[in-house]
Amino acid sequence: MKRNRVNRVALIGTGFVGSSYAFALLNQGVTEELVLIDVNKEKSQGDAMDLNHGLTFAPSPTRIWFGSYTDCQDADIVVLCAGANQKPGETRLDLVEKNLAIFKNIVGSVMESGFDGIFIVATNPVDVLTYATWKYSGLPKERVIGSGTILDTARFRYLLGDYFQIDTRNVHAYIIGEHGDTELPVWSHADIGGVLVNKIVESSDKYSQEDLDNIFVNVRDAAYQIIEKKGATYYGIAMGLVRLTKAILQNENSIHTVSCYIDNKYGTQDVYIGVPAIINRNGVRDVIELSLDETEKEKFLNSANVLKNTLNPFFK
Ligand code: LAC
Repeated sequence: MKRNRVNRVALIGTGFVGSSYAFALLNQGVTEELVLIDVNKEKSQGDAMDLNHGLTFAPSPTRIWFGSYTDCQDADIVVLCAGANQKPGETRLDLVEKNLAIFKNIVGSVMESGFDGIFIVATNPVDVLTYATWKYSGLPKERVIGSGTILDTARFRYLLGDYFQIDTRNVHAYIIGEHGDTELPVWSHADIGGVLVNKIVESSDKYSQEDLDNIFVNVRDAAYQIIEKKGATYYGIAMGLVRLTKAILQNENSIHTVSCYIDNKYGTQDVYIGVPAIINRNGVRDVIELSLDETEKEKFLNSANVLKNTLNPFFK
């Protein structure tokens, strides 16, 4: 059990995503303690030194060090960013076997420390690895959360905001399902300032359904596009992970589309998948069940089944 009173985050994996997350966490002053853990000791120690040297510019003090799994005992949150990432042309699901083996070791080591907090999983395929983390850790399902479609939803809101020239923070729209090729937009609940996007499009010939469909395709394929250009994605996901960390540590009860355990909602069960959920200090307070239209229901169930079929060889 945790012995100290300050907020501690343990980050496992200081590659592109992990180090971007650490940098964003420090700059937003979200936690008092951040411990970096990675097989590449030299790189991780270098990251700790580099980040500490910027502390004087940060909004609040954060104690940062390169540590070991024993430091997880007093962590409130363990963030898993370790593992192989997509190469050009690779899907997220192509990474399953490689990363399941890595996770079995990592989660076992974390639990040996006496960790009793919340896991946030970022490594892909995130929905499958979040389910695996839940199984390997034995923690209650609400305390194992995947980044899910938090970034896809952010991309969706950004592109809709850009299209309608509205601040992205006033665009309310969700991407749900697999964080991957089978994800889907919930057009039936997408609104700007309380007006359904579909109604806005109908009201003016400046806009078209074709444009909306292209926006979704660009959201779904964004990672492939970025990986082709720069080899990996990391800033967007890192900021989504910081947002999730803040929601937990500050007990926000805010709503985010994260990968959480579905137990007889949305017509499916026993799967981790991206849906809107209320997040607070205890993890997932509740899953929000949207009333999907028939097309959305069909696409969501297809997405859930793709994930369950991926899990079955390893967990059934
Ligand atoms: C992406 C990675 C995080 O979608 O899967 O950019």
